[in-house]
Amino acid sequence: MAILCLRLFIPVVSRHNVPMDARRSFDAIWMVQLVAAVRRLLAMAMWQEIDVSDEIEAFVNALDRVVIDCRPQPPHALPVTKIARRALRYGVGAYGTGVADLIRPHLSHLHWQQNGNYQNDPALAAFLPNYGYSELIGPDGISPSDSVRVGLLLMAKGTTYPFHAHPAAEIYYVLSGQGYFKKDARPWRSSPANQFILHAPYQPHAIETRQEHLLALYVWHGDVGTAAQLT
Ligand SMILES: [Fe+2]
Repeated sequence: MAILCLRLFIPVVSRHNVPMDARRSFDAIWMVQLVAAVRRLLAMAMWQEIDVSDEIEAFVNALDRVVIDCRPQPPHALPVTKIARRALRYGVGAYGTGVADLIRPHLSHLHWQQNGNYQNDPALAAFLPNYGYSELIGPDGISPSDSVRVGLLLMAKGTTYPFHAHPAAEIYYVLSGQGYFKKDARPWRSSPANQFILHAPYQPHAIETRQEHLLALYVWHGDVGTAAQLT
C-alpha cells in the first residue's frame, strides 16, 4: 500500500499553516497528525533535555513554519527494508507511540533511500546494505520543505554508521530498538527507545547498532539542503 495523495475536498482544521485553498486528502490529514505527533515529541524533549531546551525549541519553531502538503511518493525498498517491521517490535517508548501508530501501517511501503554521497564508497560496503532512511517532510519528503527534514532512520543490528556531519542541526528520537551514538571524541552513549540525541550543526557523529535493529525518527532544521558527508 503506497501513501497515496488522494485529492478530496475535506476541510482540515489545524493549528499548523495549511493553505485554506489546498485540496485535502486523507493523507494530508495523516501528515497533519504526524506533524502534531512530532511536535509533541519535541515538547517532551524540551522537558527531558532541559539543558538544551533552547536548541530544541528551535526545532519546534521550524516545524511550526512548515506548510503541510502531500505529494505522491512511490514505494521504494532497500535490502534493509525487510527488517522495518521487526525493528518496531522491540517496544516503542512512551513519547513515541503517536508517531509509531501513524507510521506502522506504512513502514514496508515507504520510499526508502540512501544518501547519494555514500554510494560507491568502498569503506561503506558493509554499511549500505544495512541502512536506509525515509523522508516524510523535507526536500525529498511526502510533504515538501526546504527548511525542515523529518524522517525515519533504519539500521539493522550489528551495523556501524561511521562519523559524518552536516550543516543542519539534528535531533534523533529512538522509536524502537537500541542505538549507540557518539559525538566528537565523547564516549559511545547507549540509547534505547525513548531517548533523544541532539547534534549541533557540523558536529561529527557516528551511530552503531549491536544486538538490536534501530528505528529512529530524525528532525533537521537549518541548512537541510546539504546532505551529510563522512568526516
Ligand atoms: Fe546526522
